[in-house]
Amino acid sequence: MDRKEENPEPVEQAAAPGRLARIGAWFDLRLRISDQIWPELAHHVPRSSASFWYVFGSATLLCFMVQLVTGMCLGLVYSPSAAESWASLEYLNYQQPLGWFMRSLHYWGSNFMVALMTIHVVQVFLFGAYKYPRELTWVVGCFLFLLTLAMAFTGQVMRFDQDAYWGLGIGASIAGRFPFVGGIVVDLMLGGPIIGAPTLSRFFTLHVFLVPALLLLLIAVHLWLVLKVGINEWPMPGRLVTRERYLEEYHQLVAEDGEPFVPNGVQKDLVFSGLVMVALVSCAAVLGPAGPNGPPDPTLIDTVPRPDFWFLSLFAVFALLPAYLETPLILIAPPILFLLAALLPFYSGTGEKSWKVRPGAWILVVTVFVCLGTLTWLGIRSPWSPDMAAWSGTPTPVAMVRGRTPLELQGALIVQSKQCRTCHSLGGEGGERGPALDDVATRLTQDQLIHQVLQGGGNMPAYGKNLSPAQVKALVAFLGTMHPPGQLPARDASRVASSAAPVAGVSGGR
Ligand code: HEC
Repeated sequence: MDRKEENPEPVEQAAAPGRLARIGAWFDLRLRISDQIWPELAHHVPRSSASFWYVFGSATLLCFMVQLVTGMCLGLVYSPSAAESWASLEYLNYQQPLGWFMRSLHYWGSNFMVALMTIHVVQVFLFGAYKYPRELTWVVGCFLFLLTLAMAFTGQVMRFDQDAYWGLGIGASIAGRFPFVGGIVVDLMLGGPIIGAPTLSRFFTLHVFLVPALLLLLIAVHLWLVLKVGINEWPMPGRLVTRERYLEEYHQLVAEDGEPFVPNGVQKDLVFSGLVMVALVSCAAVLGPAGPNGPPDPTLIDTVPRPDFWFLSLFAVFALLPAYLETPLILIAPPILFLLAALLPFYSGTGEKSWKVRPGAWILVVTVFVCLGTLTWLGIRSPWSPDMAAWSGTPTPVAMVRGRTPLELQGALIVQSKQCRTCHSLGGEGGERGPALDDVATRLTQDQLIHQVLQGGGNMPAYGKNLSPAQVKALVAFLGTMHPPGQLPARDASRVASSAAPVAGVSGGR
């Protein structure tokens, strides 16, 4: 027990050699843990690093451990088969005691983990902690970031519900864009050309074995580096990092103004981790688990599939990109951005650390977050998806029905009852997938209106089979009134008919 001499508080242990301490000593004599680990944990770190800015990494680690534990519990009940997974989630939600809570903890734990990890990365970036000699810690961290997102994506597939199904569909269509090898990649990813039973097995293996194993390994390396290279000191403007002098300066700083990592350095981490745990359990208990929503069924297209929160911005990018930019941006931009980020310490590895004198760093962080925030907001609103609640709730604006003929009123009723407003707005209310119909008569002639309603086209379903000729007549009569009072409706000559060949002799307008 040579440790007792080194231990700063040997008196305490000598005073109470309880049974537990003796058992501990018995194991320690044989395992030799304390002379290896204790000096490691008690190494000195800069006093300035014991700050609440430095707690996000450990909190991310805590979330990861919560994920491990809750994930294993879920694995006991969850059935990774396309035919049974959905039922097993329902079972967890409603029958298994506390099953819903495990699902909820796992879901919120994943959200917390991504959020805390993001804050951690931003902090490390702004504090210049990636600079010499901590380059590898940063590179490994970048891969941890990717792997965590991979966990979030594959985890959402585990729900194997409508969202997962369409999310996979989008993932596969991205993979299919690779030149030459696209088909093979899709086959590999889905376990065949379509989303089916092998797909879920594959993602289950990724989510439960492969990615977590890599995560564990890289987390170990990451922590090892943090312990060995030492925690970044609080950055001071004017204190430049140079390859020649930094190590010497760091050791001097730690010798003069350092404190042991355990217990002093980790106090704030423990406090923050406690708070995170309280927040996580409260979220899980109050907000509950996510889904599963409808069972996966490719024939149900009146669903509004949305990815989980962290992928909403990506979802918005995909929905909004013009078609000709899709392949280059989706395939080329992400790897380049990742490389730029991962290699950061190799082109900016020395010099100023402090965010106070690195305005570029601030501007970058703010720009990235404004972009991601806007895209996420668009992803939540997803104006390109039909708004399924629009038809029932919102009445047709009075101005559009006042003084209309019975036939036109009949048409207004059809707009309401056939749910045109899931995609079209009237008076600013309704879906945004199609153009607003307020002044549609100024754009289209009667014939073009008839054609659009009967044949659909341009992402609008065809209503030909679902409307009787009398209904079409009423509908078009109503739509023909949709123009501002002072402006005449469109006539044939005013527009080159694009798709419909207008029947000669029938002119638009009323
Ligand atoms: C699933 C969504 C959706 C539904 C439901 C829908 N539409 Fe459309 N509609 C669209 C889209 C998208 C367009 C734009 C088509 C294009 O780009 O060519 C459109 C275009 C139109 C146009 C031409 C507008 C213009 O200014 O060019 C008319 C008229 C129209 N729809 C009427 C209707 C009517 C009437 C109904 C109900 C019977 C209806 N739509 C239901 C999606 C929808």
